[in-house]
Amino acid sequence: MIPSLLLPLLGLGEAAAGQGKTFWMPPQASTLAPDVDKVFYFIYWVDIAFFVLMMGAVIFFAFKYKQKKEGEKTSSNKGSHSLELVWAVVPLILSVVMFVTGFRVYVESVIPPADSYDVRVVAQKWSWAFEYPSEGIEASELVVPADTNVRLTMSSKDVLHSFFVPDFRVKKDVVPGRYTVVWFNAPEPGEHHIFCTEYCGDGHSVMLNTVKVLPQDEYDAWLASQQAVAEAEGDLTGVALGESLFTKKACVGCHSIDGTKLVGPPMNGLSGRTEELADGTTIVADDDYIRESILAPTTKVVAGYAPSMPPFEGQLSETEINALIDYIKSLD
Ligand code: CUA
Repeated sequence: MIPSLLLPLLGLGEAAAGQGKTFWMPPQASTLAPDVDKVFYFIYWVDIAFFVLMMGAVIFFAFKYKQKKEGEKTSSNKGSHSLELVWAVVPLILSVVMFVTGFRVYVESVIPPADSYDVRVVAQKWSWAFEYPSEGIEASELVVPADTNVRLTMSSKDVLHSFFVPDFRVKKDVVPGRYTVVWFNAPEPGEHHIFCTEYCGDGHSVMLNTVKVLPQDEYDAWLASQQAVAEAEGDLTGVALGESLFTKKACVGCHSIDGTKLVGPPMNGLSGRTEELADGTTIVADDDYIRESILAPTTKVVAGYAPSMPPFEGQLSETEINALIDYIKSLD
């Protein structure tokens, strides 16, 4: 029997208490966490088994074939095909199982469900900000409803950061100049740490935050109170900010929102559409493409239009770019 003190080291024993917390892993607070842990512990156990097997063999052979008297010759061995077959085939099967299970969980972790609730994450030295495009609010901590698929579209104002919620088994780089996406579903209400897990300068170690998972009714109440504050301050965010910028920055002069062809392509229904470009290639209009087309419009021009739009590089803040994209995405 394994002494009970050793159980947590092997990933056993504590599983019942604390939502799947084990010695090596924090609590399992998202739907992804148990799947990640299963793969982790499968590989862990295989490692332990092979470590014991190989170190055992090393020690056993060291004693068995030790030179017992002066001048004794090494016994000859011509090898064994069946032994070689075993040590080739068994690890092969094990590594294929590791690949298949690992790849399935990887795919699960990188493809957000279509019905996900959208939140934008903006990283900067040395804090996190959270924008709720469809709600018109901005928050300094991440608050989400329980039992809901949440998709985070992340960007950085300055350098490379990395968004990490250990309890969710969610971790991804946040890169300046492009969008990265993670998603999670936290079934139970609770609070979990957010870390920046990529060294980003002096304040890296204090780049902490909390994700608060609330029951739906408490979440709705939180949302209402945040919206009341935003309204009182008169600050526009999300889609509303994007709509005002669309007029203020004169986008509206060249881009219709009702499908009419003006100097530039119409914006309604653009998000997710496959566009044919002037050079004959096609591109799916995702966040990254819309961003590029705002900042450097002549890079990928839609077929049938002249490359006449001025670049907006350096003229819009990260929040404003996000708001414009959210507004464009909201147009059917
Ligand atoms: Cu941001 Cu480390």
